[in-house]
Amino acid sequence: MPFRPDPDWLQPQPLERASALPAPFYTDADAAAQEIRRVFAGSWQLVAHAAQLREPGDHIVDEIAGVPVVLMRGDDGTLRGFHNVCRHRAGPLAWCNGRGARALRCRYHGWTYTLDGQLRNAPEMDSAQDFDTAQVQLPRIAVDTWQGLVFAALAPETSLAELLGGVAARLQGHDLPALVYSHRDSYEIGCNWKVYVDNYLEGYHVPHIHPELNRLLDYRSYRTEVAAWYSLQWSPLENSGNFYGQGDALYYFIWPNTMLNILPGRLQTNRVVALAPDRCRVDFDYYYPVQPDEAEQQRRRQDQQFSDAVQQEDVDICLAVQKRLACGSYLAGRLCPRRESGVHHFHELLRRAWREP
Ligand code: FES
Ligand SMILES: [Fe+2]
Repeated sequence: MPFRPDPDWLQPQPLERASALPAPFYTDADAAAQEIRRVFAGSWQLVAHAAQLREPGDHIVDEIAGVPVVLMRGDDGTLRGFHNVCRHRAGPLAWCNGRGARALRCRYHGWTYTLDGQLRNAPEMDSAQDFDTAQVQLPRIAVDTWQGLVFAALAPETSLAELLGGVAARLQGHDLPALVYSHRDSYEIGCNWKVYVDNYLEGYHVPHIHPELNRLLDYRSYRTEVAAWYSLQWSPLENSGNFYGQGDALYYFIWPNTMLNILPGRLQTNRVVALAPDRCRVDFDYYYPVQPDEAEQQRRRQDQQFSDAVQQEDVDICLAVQKRLACGSYLAGRLCPRRESGVHHFHELLRRAWREP
């Protein structure tokens, strides 16, 4: 059934009077289908680190708003993105990530494209009339890089520089491009992707859900700042004996589904991928400085164990919330202006996306 939200649900709301986004946005199958177009087709998605695409022919496959895509470093050193969909009969050009490819050859009938997406060779097509390989190109997508992180978008409504404007200036003392990709942990979670994002966007739950994390952060000085397309939660690290050392913990949310978690000496990125109305996957990528010594190795193990423990606490509460959003008991509750301005900011961007015709 088509999802047609009550127009009152989509009106902008001042923070002091705001309620959460109503429950059907988190449970309805057609709402989830519309979101692919309303939210994901026009927004930047974090896809890779530039180091994974250093040399000509290095490539990464992904999917954005349901479209298989491939990012490719060209012979001229330019990073480009294409639909990973052959123009013959929709075969796949690349199955998986790879290094140093000389061309993109379709797996179905062998049509071959250059690294900049131009059809070069189509076997046995000589008797096809009015067929000219020069007229066949793979559709392009937008690709851009920020602080070593590679983002892609099908049809972006902003530039990447506008999306992230002001973030770099806040990162004194954090040299993100110097960090090296370590590994990915993925979590598949039985909740709508927005349940996970909402939970990320507030520290209101930290004293209740995360007792260990609460000891590490200074809840009283925990702050949320909002910009046009992102919000920042930050807190000084409280306990000087902790394994992260001194400094700030910076938690950036970038519209619509990217998180940058920046602590002294490490970056962890999260991308929340919508899989179904009640299912999402969160990819955690870890980045650290080069040349770990034994103490640094130990610190990394502690970082990952601690992140994993906090993540399990978040997963448990997200599952419980998804069940209750779907049970018919609840529509939308009031937000806490002091602690949930990040949630409000996200919901305002969602309401805006839903007001589009
Ligand atoms: S679908 Fe690609 S060559 Fe046939
Ligand atoms: Fe949490």
